[in-house]
Amino acid sequence: MTPSLPEPLFSLCIFLKKSLQLQDQELDKILSWAEKYPCAHSLWFGGFLGFLNIYHPEYAKAVYRRADPKAGDFYDFFVPWIGKGLVVLHGPKWFQHRRLLTPAFHNDILKSYVSLMADSSKVMLDKWEKRITKDKSLDIFEDVCLMTLDSLLKCTFSTGLKVRSSDKTTLPTAIHDLTAMIQQRIKTFLYHNDLIYWFSPHGRRFRNACRIIHCNTEKMIKERKERLKDKRELENIQKKRRLDILDILLCAKDENGEGLPDEDISAETDTLMFGGHDTTGTGISWLLYCLALHPEHQQRCREEIKEILGDRETIQWNDLSNMPYITMCIKESLRLYPPVPQMYRQLNQPVTFFDGRTLPEGSLVSLHVYALHRNPTVWKDPEVFDPLRFSQDNLSDQHSFAFLPFSAGPRNCIAQQFAMTEMKVSLALTLLRFELSPDLNKPPNEVVQLLLRSTTGIHLHLKKLS
Ligand code: HEM
Ligand SMILES: *[C@@H]1O[C@H](CO)[C@@H](O)[C@H](O)[C@H]1NC(C)=O
Repeated sequence: MTPSLPEPLFSLCIFLKKSLQLQDQELDKILSWAEKYPCAHSLWFGGFLGFLNIYHPEYAKAVYRRADPKAGDFYDFFVPWIGKGLVVLHGPKWFQHRRLLTPAFHNDILKSYVSLMADSSKVMLDKWEKRITKDKSLDIFEDVCLMTLDSLLKCTFSTGLKVRSSDKTTLPTAIHDLTAMIQQRIKTFLYHNDLIYWFSPHGRRFRNACRIIHCNTEKMIKERKERLKDKRELENIQKKRRLDILDILLCAKDENGEGLPDEDISAETDTLMFGGHDTTGTGISWLLYCLALHPEHQQRCREEIKEILGDRETIQWNDLSNMPYITMCIKESLRLYPPVPQMYRQLNQPVTFFDGRTLPEGSLVSLHVYALHRNPTVWKDPEVFDPLRFSQDNLSDQHSFAFLPFSAGPRNCIAQQFAMTEMKVSLALTLLRFELSPDLNKPPNEVVQLLLRSTTGIHLHLKKLS
């Protein structure tokens, strides 16, 4: 039973919530401010929580080359869901976990993921093939996110998504809803209070979604623990298959020979489920959208794949480093549509920027990746999709903190290579099968819900290629 507030109190909360809903930090508004103030401006959430919002490479470098903690006010909202895993931790415990999990994303392991990723993509493409009609476009977003969840589960947890098309796919929906609910909580002043939030209907919905996810995690961990109990099975697993994330977490021992507490194992599992699929799903959706808008680049990518494959049908690990044009297109789409558009830090020591301005210890900083990637003092004609910005000749002129889809410095994305691998595999397979064009009647409408989403979906026309 979840406790709830008496009705009158509850209405009062709704009223206050509406009146104190923090001003929407719309993307257009941020961009226009960024044009006026070239490095940074202050950003107030409801007049009580002030951030310095930065979008200049030198400003980003001054903060993000350090490992200051995430801004607790916001990241604490994640804890009931993903626990204290890599995304939320800081200090020695973060370092210990980061060191533990880094080998799970080594190239030798990624190599074995290529065929699993291809399998997940093929399931999605088969589904699309059955569904396309001549005159109706397809909203691809949800399917792409299902695909990336399936491949994440296959690759890092050796399971895979078990959904029948009749199910209302609860696990992915729950994850999707939770990110939107956290963004809502960030923006709603009253909801920063734990008590009010947990008694509100939104808080209840949040808790229910968490329950779905945690049930699934517990089940996965329990099953694996059972299997690892058997010594022979353990040896077999180690011989036959690379250690996946769960094996690594369950077999880890500290200097005293102690394993990780269950709480930490669950936290890292939930963290990777959150960090590892909606992000990539969002990235791939926007990528397909960009290429649909630009048939000339789409065709060049397709030719590049055809040339690499010859008469082979499957993509292999070695092919992935031979796709310069595709790689440039992926980067250019991550520039225009960074899946993680904004990140927050709280300074644990003062910082001095290149222009002599300083911020004291304790200040809150928001790195606005979306605005950085469209900053006209950094990128010429920032609104134009031009993959050649990322050509070898141009790269030497690029500031190392100008392009930050995966962040940078010690707290960067641990799975950047995993994500790039997945984007390449699924783009290649999609372009071999379909020609993409945009549905001009249903353009996307970008919003920040932790991730860069579209309120109107991402609608594409697909045409089967012979
Ligand atoms: C296109 C896909 C992806 C993008 C754009 C992306 C982006 C990012 C960014 C910007 C951060 C820093 C967040 C912050 O400072 O608040 C981050 C951290 C992280 N990402 Fe990713 N990510 C992607 C895919 C993945 C995948 C596939 C996984 C896991 C399988 C993953 C796991 C993580 C983890 C665990 C962290 C925290 C690292 C730490 O603080 O030590 N990400 N990611
Ligand atoms: C460098 O980038 C610009 C766009 O900023 C592009 O027009 C130009 O062709 C690129 N140069 C090369 C050699 O790719």
